[in-house]
Amino acid sequence: MRLKLATAMGVACLALSAPVSHAAPADGQAIFEGKDCVSCHYTDGPAREKTIEDQLAKTGPELWYAGDKFQEEWLVGWLADPQPIRPMKFGSLTEENPADHPALSGDESATVTEFLMSLVSGEVEAGTVKVKKNAKGRQIFTKKMPCSGCHEYAGRKGGVTGGRSGPSLAEAGVRLNPDWILAYLQKPTLFKPVKMMPVFVGLLSDKDMANVASYVGNFKPKK
Ligand code: HEC
Ligand code: HEC
Repeated sequence: MRLKLATAMGVACLALSAPVSHAAPADGQAIFEGKDCVSCHYTDGPAREKTIEDQLAKTGPELWYAGDKFQEEWLVGWLADPQPIRPMKFGSLTEENPADHPALSGDESATVTEFLMSLVSGEVEAGTVKVKKNAKGRQIFTKKMPCSGCHEYAGRKGGVTGGRSGPSLAEAGVRLNPDWILAYLQKPTLFKPVKMMPVFVGLLSDKDMANVASYVGNFKPKK
């Protein structure tokens, strides 16, 4: 509602009405609204979804903590040349991802990235996860916990292996902020109050979560 009203009042007022914690670079926000990105993504937190119906009604992932979640360089590139992240269509377990996400020009993607990177929850501590070939994390991801049953990752022989129901993590090392991966595991209700992924709080210690975040944060795309 606030967004619609703000659009009607124009960009100048938007900058003024933006909440202090989201000192949103107004130019990127104006493009985000002008290109109708708002029809599928909401950018003001906290999480709005309360029920499964709310979750299923969404046509794109929430972006209100985009600045916590993504790596800036990846985001600029992806917005200009979006490639499928989720193997399956958003919200579906049976249809393939149609790979039809709208693309921005290079200039627009840099400006929109500035806006999206300004959106943070205030709940992610920077510099807590050191990414590496974490043997304990690998053990958890591939054996102790069912992570690999739902997420793609780089297999031994150069291909991609793993399940397809969750977002692909094969490029997580360039796409995601490792500190956010840890926070996502530790604070599941903050980021995704309604979700498909099981909650691992109580199953994994904070240390285990840090190990698995370190391991996932080290996944690099094939050259
Ligand atoms: C018709 C709905 C729709 C519109 C319009 C749309 N998106 Fe998306 N967006 C999606 C879906 C669905 C995904 C998931 C894509 C995937 O997993 O491959 C997505 C993914 C994203 C992501 C990655 C989010 C994540 O958590 O993986 C970003 C960033 C994004 N969109 C930004 C934008 C921007 C900027 C615009 C406007 C230029 C836009 N989107 C317009 C539906 C939409
Ligand atoms: C039953 C399937 C399932 C299992 C098991 C699972 N996940 Fe997920 N995961 C998902 C789905 C689906 C999402 C997308 C958000 C949602 O709907 O929960 C997700 C999201 C994620 C994300 C965010 C990715 C993004 O781009 O938004 C990370 C990181 C992640 N999972 C890591 C893990 C780790 C680590 C484990 C094991 C400890 C794990 N997952 C176990 C299904 C699963």
